Amino acid sequence: MKPSVLVARQVFPEIVARLREHFDVETNDEPVDWSPAQLTRRLQGKQGLFVAATEPVDAALVAACPELRAVCSMAVGYNNIDVAACAARGITVTNAPDVLTETTADFGFALMMAAARRVTESERFLREGRWQRWSVDFFCGADVHGATLGILGMGRIGQAIARRGALGFGMKVIYHNRSPLPPALEAPLGARWVDKEALLREVDHLVIVVPYSKASHHAVGAREIALMKPTATLTNVARGGVVDDAALAQALAQRRIAAAALDVFEGEPAVHPGLLAVPNVVLTPHIASATTATRRAMANLAADNLIAVLGGRAPITPVVPAAPRAPADRAP
Ligand code: DGY
Repeated sequence: MKPSVLVARQVFPEIVARLREHFDVETNDEPVDWSPAQLTRRLQGKQGLFVAATEPVDAALVAACPELRAVCSMAVGYNNIDVAACAARGITVTNAPDVLTETTADFGFALMMAAARRVTESERFLREGRWQRWSVDFFCGADVHGATLGILGMGRIGQAIARRGALGFGMKVIYHNRSPLPPALEAPLGARWVDKEALLREVDHLVIVVPYSKASHHAVGAREIALMKPTATLTNVARGGVVDDAALAQALAQRRIAAAALDVFEGEPAVHPGLLAVPNVVLTPHIASATTATRRAMANLAADNLIAVLGGRAPITPVVPAAPRAPADRAP
């Protein structure tokens, strides 16, 4: 008998076809998210779960699904999965690193440029028929080339954004991470580790790529934004909740920073009304990894992981439960 797997949201048909070669597969073919109760009910008797960043896989769900052996996500971020609860029940969790790094970095850089050069704000002005005449300060923004790029969270995607800035746009790169990168990674980018306060004070364009966790919740809020230059921009391609959206909306309304660009939101798909009300923010619906090639690669990797784990082999990209950290090590 084949193992059974549940695909909790629509994926490309060829991925489902691949999974069907190995498993009995139930899919969610509706453009509607299943509630936790529906997900729990459909998972009964199934060994594998295919998810994205959107399905909550918590301790209650895994406790209610005793046959579950693998939770494979097509996202790199896995804050929707209680990895410790899964590990405690012997359930393997996998994510999808690497395959989306360059695509996500392209988008992060594009968002940062759009905020700095007021691309969507000026387009809206034009579309609304408000363009009557040119003037010398018409939609003046901030230069990207030669400016200081600050990365909060210098993992794979952070480094890929830094590469674009340093090597493509002659930007000076500073970053903050729990610990500095090895010199061999810093040197080609001319990148310099700074503490978080220095990052916020010195940056012209801040790009946030730090994973979401309790420790990074509201890592950038009113206090942090107040440290930034009034000409600076802030871009978030990490996760909703890393930035305090209410505080950011207020700062943008009061022009305490020049502009922002957000692909992720606290409580998405809801967006804080204050963000919708201000002109100086670029808003996109969590699409940083959305190219067809990359989304296929992400889904294929999740399928490969399911096939490996339920076939009795080692996962390709396992998520290892975090070891408890000392309090001094907590700040992002
Ligand atoms: C990820 O993979 O974590 C991206 O945010 C897409 O969901």
